Amino acid sequence: MSHESTVPEELGDPVVRTAEVPEPGAVTIVVPTFNESANIRELLHRITESVPARLPCEVVFVDDSTDDTPEVIFQAAQDCPFPVTVLHRDEPEGGLGGAVVEGIKAAASDWIVVMDGDLQHPPSLVPELVGTGERANAGLVVASRYIKGGSRAGLAGGYRIAVSRGATWLTKSLFPRRLHGISDPMSGFFAIRRSVVTAEILQPLGYKILLELAVRSRPREVTEVPFVFQDRFAGESKSTAQEGFRFLRHLVGLRTASPIARMVVFGLIGATGFVPNLLGLYALTTLGMHYVPAEILANQLGVAWNFLLIEHLLFRERRKHRTWWDRVGRFALLANADLVLRIPLIALLVGTFGMEALPATAVALVMTFVLRFVGTEALVYLPRRGRGAPDGSRTARRAR
Ligand code: GDD
Ligand code: MN
Repeated sequence: MSHESTVPEELGDPVVRTAEVPEPGAVTIVVPTFNESANIRELLHRITESVPARLPCEVVFVDDSTDDTPEVIFQAAQDCPFPVTVLHRDEPEGGLGGAVVEGIKAAASDWIVVMDGDLQHPPSLVPELVGTGERANAGLVVASRYIKGGSRAGLAGGYRIAVSRGATWLTKSLFPRRLHGISDPMSGFFAIRRSVVTAEILQPLGYKILLELAVRSRPREVTEVPFVFQDRFAGESKSTAQEGFRFLRHLVGLRTASPIARMVVFGLIGATGFVPNLLGLYALTTLGMHYVPAEILANQLGVAWNFLLIEHLLFRERRKHRTWWDRVGRFALLANADLVLRIPLIALLVGTFGMEALPATAVALVMTFVLRFVGTEALVYLPRRGRGAPDGSRTARRAR
C-alpha cells in the first residue's frame, strides 16, 4: 500500500516532521463511525499518544455518517504520524458489523484491532492486545469486561447491565464450544489476525461483530485481556431497540448455519403450525362447514403460519433470490404435496413392505418431513446460479 507523505507547510515542527513519515502499520485500527464528529479529534489524539511509539499503526475509519464526521477526520488526520483512511459507505449494509468487515477487508497488516469511535475503548490497550496475541500465538484477542481487572463502568444504568448480562448468558449457552474461553462475546474491542478472518463467509448483522467472527471464522487460539469500558466521550449511543431485534435474528442466523440445525428449527416451526391449523378447523366446522373442505382450508392456515415464521427466522437472508409470490407458491405447493404424498406412501409401506399401520405412518411422516425440508431449501431458497448481489457503493479516501 502506498501513501502520500507530504507534510502541510503549517506543521513546521521538525520533531513532528520526522515522525510524520508514516510507516506501513503492523496493526490496522478499524473504527466504525456513525455521526461521531465530536469524538474524532480526541480519539486520534489518544491513539497518537499511546500507539505508534510502541507499535507502527494505521487507522481505517469505516463511516456511515450523515453528519460531517468524514471532514472532521480529514482535518484531524493532518496531525497524525500514521496513515489515516476514510472509507465512506453510501449504503450502510449490515450496520456496524458490515462496516467492520469492510474495514478488515481493506486492511493489509497482519493484525487488525477493532474499536469504537467514542472512546469507550481505551486506545492505550491496542499495543497490549496485539502483544498478547503475538506472545500467546493467538488468532483472536478479546478485550473483556468480565475477567479480573475488567469492568463495565461506562455501561449506563442497571437496565443496560441486566440486558447485557442476559444477552451474554444466552449467547454463551447457544454456542458453548465456539465461545469457549471468551467471557465477553459482546465486546466490540478486540484484535484479530488477518489470516484467520474468512471474510467471504461472514454475514454481519448489526452490532455483534465479534460474535460473528468467533462463530463463523473459528480462530483456533483465543485469549483475553481485561479492560474497563469507559464512559462515552461525547454524543450518544447509536444502539436502539431495533438493534435488539437485529441481535436476536443474528443469533438465529448463526445457530442455524448448519443444515442439521436448520432442519431442527424447520421441524419446530412446523410443529407450532398445528395451533393455527386446529383453531381454523374448529372455527370452520363450528360455522357448519363439512370437515373435508374444512381440513383443506385449515391446513392452508398452518402453511401460511409456517411460511411467515420460516421466512423471517430461518431463510431471512435467502429471500432475495425469488419474488414473494414465487416463494409463497412454491412453499404452498411443497406443503400440500406433503399431504397428498403421505397416504400413498403409507399404503406402499403397508402393502408392499408389510409394515404395521402405525410405524408405517411414523416412517412416512419422517420421510415427507425430510423431503419437504430439502425441497424448501433447494426449490424455494437456494440462490439461483449467476445471480450475485451487487456491491454497495463506497468511496475510500486517504486522509493522510
Ligand atoms: N459505520 C457504522 N455504521 N458505525 C456505526 C454504526 C453503523 O451503522 N452504528 C454504530 N456505529 C459506531 C459508532 O459510531 C461507534 O463508533 C461504535 O460503532 C459503537 O457504537 P455505540 O452506539 O457507541 O455502541 P454502544 O456503546 O451502545 O455499544 C458498544 O458496546 C457494546 C458492549 O456493551 C459496541 O461496541 C457494541 O458492539 C458492544 O456490544
Ligand atoms: Mn459506545
